Amino acid sequence: MSELRTEQPHDDAGLRDWQHVHNVIIPTHVLSLAEVRERAGRNHLEVAYLDDVLVGCSTVRPPTGDTLTATVIARTLPAHRGQGFGTELYARGVARARDLGAETIETVVLSSNEDGLRFAKKRGFVEIERYLLPGDTIPWIDLRLS
Ligand SMILES: CC(C)(COP(=O)(O)OP(=O)(O)OC[C@H]1O[C@@H](n2cnc3c(N)ncnc32)[C@H](O)[C@@H]1OP(=O)(O)O)[C@@H](O)C(=O)NCCC(=O)NCCS
Repeated sequence: MSELRTEQPHDDAGLRDWQHVHNVIIPTHVLSLAEVRERAGRNHLEVAYLDDVLVGCSTVRPPTGDTLTATVIARTLPAHRGQGFGTELYARGVARARDLGAETIETVVLSSNEDGLRFAKKRGFVEIERYLLPGDTIPWIDLRLS
């Protein structure tokens, strides 16, 4: 059976793959390649492949503040959901966040992403805030691992 291969995007091809997954899943907040490159500089990004097929990506925002809170976001392209890839990406992200010293884990889900909300709540996340960013039409939901 094929295994998920994850890597940090280290060139434009990898950054474009990460960008593709992000923009398919978050069509209300499309990122340019320059914005993705900037995120790669401050966050831990990964892209995931099954053989050579792009299936998902993840983001870990490193711990900040007194609470050492890190944000972990897993994303699987809709055609590849329900096969355990999101769970694997999420587990890798949490492990990375803990390695970086995180004591609190949060995630953020677009409120229209029902799969993402169910996934997060089943794994112990609890909603802490709902808000609209400037120019957005669909609220974001911040959730914290309880
Ligand atoms: C959340 C998300 C990453 C899950 O991706 P995924 O690849 O479908 O995740 P998994 O396959 O590991 O798990 C999804 C479901 O499939 C089930 N599943 C996993 N492997 C399975 C298998 N082999 N057979 C049947 N079901 C399976 C899991 O139990 C899980 O059920 P649950 O969501 O009710 O807990 C995906 O829906 C997504 O990208 N959502 C939008 C982004 C987002 O909101 N991310 C924030 C969450 S951190």
